[in-house]
Amino acid sequence: MTIVELDHATIRLGSRTVLSDTSLAIGQGEFIGVLGPNGAGKTTLMRAILGLIPPASGAIRVFGRAPERGDSAISYLPQVRTVLPDLRVRGLDFIASSVHGERWGLPSIARKDRDAIDATLHEIGAADLARRPLSDMSGGERQRLLLAQALIGAPRLLLLDEPLISLDQRHQEVAIEAVRKVCRERGITVLFSAHELNQLLGTLDRVLYLGGGHAVLGTVDEVVTAPVLSRLYGADINVVRADGHIFVMSRGRDVERTDHLHDHHGHDHDDHHHHH
Ligand SMILES: Nc1ncnc2c1ncn2[C@@H]1O[C@H](COP(=O)(O)OP(=O)(O)O)[C@@H](O)[C@H]1O
Ligand SMILES: [Mg+2]
Repeated sequence: MTIVELDHATIRLGSRTVLSDTSLAIGQGEFIGVLGPNGAGKTTLMRAILGLIPPASGAIRVFGRAPERGDSAISYLPQVRTVLPDLRVRGLDFIASSVHGERWGLPSIARKDRDAIDATLHEIGAADLARRPLSDMSGGERQRLLLAQALIGAPRLLLLDEPLISLDQRHQEVAIEAVRKVCRERGITVLFSAHELNQLLGTLDRVLYLGGGHAVLGTVDEVVTAPVLSRLYGADINVVRADGHIFVMSRGRDVERTDHLHDHHGHDHDDHHHHH
């Protein structure tokens, strides 16, 4: 079953064409690594799949129909995270507030909601965050909490926009493994954007590589090649494989690493849409 489909879709932001006449189909349960240089359109594509940016031409279909804003079957972790309004709340209450679409200060959480939240936190190796106040958490811990929040409510499609930013190496691995496990078990389709391919190599089913207004979807072996990436980057790219890693090089420079050194804050979108 096709979960996300682009049918000759062109996506424009102002006068800029971010994606030109692109067709692709993503199936149920696929884990897709969304890659490409800074500004390639990873965030824009996710926003288009959410129905926030209608295609200038062609069609985008999610679950076989035009995407509906606020579809509870889609869960989205934006690249630019919400500023958390009340740091005194505990992890459990923070997630519970999103389950019911309520704000803060819930008088009580239904037993079954509490159990579901505890189970999800446990699944992603963050059980200890349930009872701790947000004020007490590191950036990485808050991010794991947001990840748990994205998994609550049985989504069928998970859009994670650079969820690894601000996590250290170990927690990046924990987060990837947790998403992989939960999504495999539940058959959730995942679009997971990242700076670096290598972190996702053991996890992704296919890679969606964006660049220069184009997108190529395929296996790593099909997509991460010198000819394909040279076209997407508009530069001479070499793909170097060593030690189970893949390095995308341009004139002796690792483009995935150097491209994103100053991209830890992302764009100033005002979209903080979690479902519910
Ligand atoms: N609100 C906007 N208006 C016009 N252009 C934008 C806007 N937001 C992003 N862009 C541009 O669209 C392109 C794609 O951006 P983005 O989707 O954020 O890329 P990525 O997530 O891959 O870094 C970039 O050139 C960016 O500068
Ligand atoms: Mg982005």
